Amino acid sequence: MLVILISGRGSNMRALVEAGLPVAAVIANRADAAGLDFARSRKIATAVVEHQKFASREAFDDALAREIDRHRPRLVALAGFMRVLTPRFVARYERRMLNIHPSLLPMYPGLETHRRALEDGIKVHGCSVHFVTPQVDHGPIVAQAAVPVRDDDDEASLAARVLETEHRILVAAIGWFCEDRLVIEGHRVRVKDEVADAGALLVPALHS
Ligand code: GRF
Repeated sequence: MLVILISGRGSNMRALVEAGLPVAAVIANRADAAGLDFARSRKIATAVVEHQKFASREAFDDALAREIDRHRPRLVALAGFMRVLTPRFVARYERRMLNIHPSLLPMYPGLETHRRALEDGIKVHGCSVHFVTPQVDHGPIVAQAAVPVRDDDDEASLAARVLETEHRILVAAIGWFCEDRLVIEGHRVRVKDEVADAGALLVPALHS
């Protein structure tokens, strides 16, 4: 079973639910996270742990961990969860917490990845699923998808195309985790019993 953490829209969470993955609960750090409505409509347990109500990051993370652990999940998925987590929290879910990030890591960790990609004029952008480690957006990479940048792209159009691929690689990566097929070897992740490049989804979207 997996617990999904969200902060807003929740389209990645929705993709996981619609793919039939075993979701035990959806937890948000904001009461107004739009994705909560979808989870409720699917009769999935939801909870809100509002970071603003806590005096420190540690106190928030402890409350969040208590809420997560009630569901005894095998995996925690950060799906658009916009909080930096403390090292203690990250250690608690070592090797069983995945994050979706909208860039081809290690390029563009952090925020505003699409704006920065456009400013730099790169031709290939994309997204990554990685295990969470204490250094933000730097853990072992499970899957990536490449998205060509078009001449007429703006932040919104590029974000929308990347988002479609986020949904695909997050579903794939969590599926592999649930099947016990991910092997972490140092900073590299291998997908057991899979074609050689399973973790690298190249999306031929040039003319689509
Ligand atoms: C996604 O682009 C995710 O990678 C980023 O924030 C966005 C969240 O989208 N961290 P959603 O809430 O899953 O729709």
